[in-house]
Amino acid sequence: MSEINQIPYAAYKVRQDLKPKGLDGLSEKAIDQHWKLYEGYVTNTNLLNKLVWDTGEANKELNNAEHSEIQRRLGFEYNGMVLHEHYFSALGKGGAPSSDSPLMSQLSKDFKGYERWKKQFIQIGNFRGVGWVVLSYDPFLKRLNNFWITDHEVGHVAGFVPILVMDVWEHAYVLDFGSLASGGLGRPAYLEAYFKNINWNVVEERLQNALTLKSDR
Ligand SMILES: [Fe+2]
Repeated sequence: MSEINQIPYAAYKVRQDLKPKGLDGLSEKAIDQHWKLYEGYVTNTNLLNKLVWDTGEANKELNNAEHSEIQRRLGFEYNGMVLHEHYFSALGKGGAPSSDSPLMSQLSKDFKGYERWKKQFIQIGNFRGVGWVVLSYDPFLKRLNNFWITDHEVGHVAGFVPILVMDVWEHAYVLDFGSLASGGLGRPAYLEAYFKNINWNVVEERLQNALTLKSDR
């Protein structure tokens, strides 16, 4: 995320540098459409922050029907923006994670290995409903854990650090793979393609950064 400093409320710019290109099995058209949705989350995060700011400036109450939903909606729009940035930034040159990396050591410790972790991550990715699968780091126990996130905001643990973020909303795959219900290859095929395009260097870097965090719990 990048903050626009001259505005008095928190405001963000679309992170053009994170837009993935040349993916294997995930089309440019699908990424373009998906990117537009991400831009919408940035716009709406900024708008909500502005509306909350304006309420304060006008000395009006937040705790009423007119304004409270603006505040409540922040978690949805913010996470829609941030999760997409994590998702797009780790899509790129695929490959496999390095076998002697800290990530592999951590997955071995916490899941009894990469394959078992991946199997569960994909099983969660096939859950019914729309949302995300997030591999997060718990700085207190120094462990990785998989999470199902409903929509963008339900299911996160405060203070845990997202390491790998996989979008399983229908917009992430229907254009390229259709849906199982309509006879297409659907989400399972997308999950396979997604794994072919993970930039493990980015994932490794996120874990390296997370490993330096101290928990204050
Ligand atoms: Fe998405």
